[in-house]
Amino acid sequence: MSRSVLVTGGNRGIGLAIARAFADAGDKVAITYRSGEPPAALEELGCLAVRCDITDTEQVEQAYKEIEAEHGPVEVLIANAGITKDQLLMRMSEEDFTSVIDTNLTGTFRVVKRANRGMLRAKKGRVVLISSVVGLYGGPGQANYAASKAALVGFARSLSRELGSRNITFNVVAPGFVDTAMTRALSEEQRAAIMAQVPLGRYAQPEEIAATVRFLASDDASYITGAVIPVDGGLGMGH
Ligand SMILES: NC(=O)c1ccc[n+]([C@@H]2O[C@H](COP(=O)([O-])OP(=O)(O)OC[C@H]3O[C@@H](n4cnc5c(N)ncnc54)[C@H](OP(=O)(O)O)[C@@H]3O)[C@@H](O)[C@H]2O)c1
Repeated sequence: MSRSVLVTGGNRGIGLAIARAFADAGDKVAITYRSGEPPAALEELGCLAVRCDITDTEQVEQAYKEIEAEHGPVEVLIANAGITKDQLLMRMSEEDFTSVIDTNLTGTFRVVKRANRGMLRAKKGRVVLISSVVGLYGGPGQANYAASKAALVGFARSLSRELGSRNITFNVVAPGFVDTAMTRALSEEQRAAIMAQVPLGRYAQPEEIAATVRFLASDDASYITGAVIPVDGGLGMGH
């Protein structure tokens, strides 16, 4: 199997682990990065790195053109790029709120909409959205982030109903706390408080999220759509 796979925000953290998982399986992988230079590891894996800020529709269009020219239409899209701007509600500015929505929700809409063009033509496609346990569990100081991640569930489920007959699946992965730059920004106190709530008693490694994403894009998951799969060490049970 050598499909054209796109992972947004694939230059580091969970996205990089996902890119590696698909490349190791023999797929043609493109990643987008927003800032800096993509790590050398990506080149070694044979991944195509394309600069793209998903808050800019024109940049999304350009990225797809570049990827299509090299790998053909995107058959598997992993919408992974995301940000946090945590703040208690009273101190949360409107910009803190809208910028998180614009990246995590509207940015996902932009990349999914553009991918859909080729998937409709191919009469098949796999889309996996990276949400968070916080989407349905909530988190103090994370009203913007939780709202954006919960919204991905309604987005994916609507598209599952809209496009299921076209053989395109839409699934959501909801990671718990994963050891990446995003969580390294938390204080020791915050990290300890989170850990105390996690039945498995540890953070996830990015590879543990990548394994589930790859499963959802595989033939073994051909009858799964509109699902929300927690990979959270049990943190979100019942939510
Ligand atoms: N880490 C966790 O515990 C955790 C838990 C649940 C869910 N998640 C979700 O998993 C995803 C990846 O998280 P991570 O921990 O790997 O985060 P990370 O290390 O902070 O990486 C985030 C990635 O998203 C990219 N990105 C951010 N804004 C972008 C934009 N406007 N346009 C294009 N790319 C953009 C970043 O690009 P730059 O390198 O240019 O900044 C980076 O590649 C996110 O959606 C996050 O919400 C993470």
